[in-house]
Amino acid sequence: MSFLAFSQFSPMVKGQIMQFDEIIDRSSTHAYKWEKYKGKDILPMWVADTEFASPLPIQQALKARCDHGLFGYTLPAQYEPANKAVMRWLADKHDWEIEQDWIVWTPGVVPAFNVACKAYCRTGDTVLVQTPNYPPLRAAPAINGLQRVEIDSVEVDGRWTLNFEQLEEAAADPKCKLFIICNPMNPVGSVLSQQELEKVAEICNRNNVKLCSDEIHCDLILDQSKQHIPAGREQSLRDSSITLMAASKTFNIAGLGTSFAIIPNRSLRTKFVSATQGFVPWANVMGLVATEVAFTQCDEWHQNLLDYLRENLAYVEQQVQSIEGLRLLKVDATFLAWIDASGLGVEDPQAYFESKGVGPSPGVDFGDKRFVRINFGCPRSQLIEAFTRLKA
Ligand SMILES: Cc1ncc(COP(=O)(O)O)c(C=O)c1O
Repeated sequence: MSFLAFSQFSPMVKGQIMQFDEIIDRSSTHAYKWEKYKGKDILPMWVADTEFASPLPIQQALKARCDHGLFGYTLPAQYEPANKAVMRWLADKHDWEIEQDWIVWTPGVVPAFNVACKAYCRTGDTVLVQTPNYPPLRAAPAINGLQRVEIDSVEVDGRWTLNFEQLEEAAADPKCKLFIICNPMNPVGSVLSQQELEKVAEICNRNNVKLCSDEIHCDLILDQSKQHIPAGREQSLRDSSITLMAASKTFNIAGLGTSFAIIPNRSLRTKFVSATQGFVPWANVMGLVATEVAFTQCDEWHQNLLDYLRENLAYVEQQVQSIEGLRLLKVDATFLAWIDASGLGVEDPQAYFESKGVGPSPGVDFGDKRFVRINFGCPRSQLIEAFTRLKA
């Protein structure tokens, strides 16, 4: 099916289509995503940044900051507009009124969950990690001298959720101190419901296990009947959780290395901040500028992005269904599709996709070699090209 044929049932306005349809050549920018297959005819659809230009107000603000010409130290806590912007965004988009001093800026979510391991565990403790999961998240316990215990994702009614029985059992081990969760889930795309989050809270609290919730994808809710619930907003988790967020995935500013943890409990916050001392740098000024603008001037762009991604997801679902041997469960959020390729009957799904000219993320890196993860945060024409190649 051609792009035009597909867009005939798209309700999108033309301006929107043009904005996200633009193919932008990143080959001269050393983009991590594009370097991997440099010189090869393989479409990079792996690492989780999108192919979309950041909103114009962000670009303009960064240019204006560059024009100033001085790039000395900026302490994030003193950069009032970025802090206020986070508070505004959380109140408006996530119904969460926070206090400014709950915000701890970090130069990325990856350092933040590693800091959580260091802050709340001692050598030999165990950390629960939902599986499959983002590779650096899976790696965090071992990096910090801790044991990783995996909590499986299970299929229930056509969607992925946690194996709560396993969670119940693993959390009861007195050595278990921390549960790192990814919500919305990367790679499986589910958003925890109120009931599911309450269950997590109940199990964690009963066993004195802290919850570190990586919510970097929380502004990418595609199923409009679903709502993201930040962990720290739950009264029962207020004093036992840290919530990690960033504007980076949504607004394509991950290269600016800026994110934040929301830690309402003072003692947990102090421990977290102490664990950063000496080796975690401050979030940088460009990231603060971009985050401020993302969370104050880009609401319409954000809505347009979600509409575009919803259409991309519909296309991916339709295409996956039409290829024998591939299977995709319900994706509530993210721009990532966790595709079960076991039905293809090939030994190495990643190699098979690459042989067809498409470069997903290998499922084995997330904990399941039968799968691949496709990043559909790209112009529709690229998506169509990818599936055309897969079907050839
Ligand atoms: C779940 C999750 N957490 C964290 C990150 C990376 O965060 P950062 O670049 O802020 O370290 C990613 C990037 O793909 C991700 O998917």
